[in-house]
Amino acid sequence: HDYDLLVVGSANADLVIGVDRRPGAGETVLGSDLVVHPGGKGANQAVAAARLGARTALLARVGDDDYGRLLLDSQRSAGVDTAGVLVGGAPTGVALITVDPSGDNSIVVSQGANARLTPDDVQASLRLLAAARVVSLQLEIPLESVAEVVRTAAAGFDGRPGPRVVLNPSPVAPLPTDVLAVCDPLVVNEHEARFLLSDDSVGSSDDPEEWADALLSRGPRSVVVTLGGEGALVADGDRTVLVPSPAVTAVDTTGAGDAFTGALAWRLGVGDDLVTAVRFAVRVGAAAVTRAGAQASFPNAEEVAAL
Ligand code: RIB
Ligand code: NA
Repeated sequence: HDYDLLVVGSANADLVIGVDRRPGAGETVLGSDLVVHPGGKGANQAVAAARLGARTALLARVGDDDYGRLLLDSQRSAGVDTAGVLVGGAPTGVALITVDPSGDNSIVVSQGANARLTPDDVQASLRLLAAARVVSLQLEIPLESVAEVVRTAAAGFDGRPGPRVVLNPSPVAPLPTDVLAVCDPLVVNEHEARFLLSDDSVGSSDDPEEWADALLSRGPRSVVVTLGGEGALVADGDRTVLVPSPAVTAVDTTGAGDAFTGALAWRLGVGDDLVTAVRFAVRVGAAAVTRAGAQASFPNAEEVAAL
């Protein structure tokens, strides 16, 4: 395998303004100076893994514009193989982000070129998929393209198994049963877990263990529920384990979940078991919340070791 990890997903320019509090409908508030950071859930995962030392490739689509070049630069300087990053078709995706004093964010995404990453683009990049140990996906690209990757990975290549599939369904949407069945793990936060379980009384429970077990019964091979500062819950059918996070002071949580998932997917690619991989990934996520921005805040291996 040429790659420990292939990420298939979005790349966005993050337009970030710090606010004391978010405006309500019809309200205007003043915020900080605007900062533009490289972001997007897919691009974030790829940078997180590569900065830690993973052999990483990204399949994504950006516009032929300055934001697209910002994103390509960020990938390349982290060491991501960008041969699979397609250029053109629409402007680069943009995320409008407000960050409040507690480090929490609200995000609106304009998909732009991300929405033009088609199943045909996936078919044209099968070489990357066949060369990866793990493929990691999110939902800021068309669901048909995610499904195309997952089905191809599940079918394998000439009798050889395809890559292990990690999926973070964010922004959350209903998932086809055959896509869900291949996830190993399905990675969700509290909001995503409740959404996927909204047709079940468990969705209104306050016990993440109940969510993890109920999600597992929907078909994925394993489930990870991220719990912010509380860490993450791992359910693999044999056991359900809470992995605590180191305590840190949050500055900006943007992209911390992506750093977690990118690190997790990489560690699975190099052979860690799921609980061991999650123990490493919670430290990467914790380091990421201590600094501003998404990719700009992701730690290298020395910084994780020091935490
Ligand atoms: O998960 C964080 C990311 O969500 C941001 O970087 C933004 O681009 C949106 O995709
Ligand atoms: Na951050």
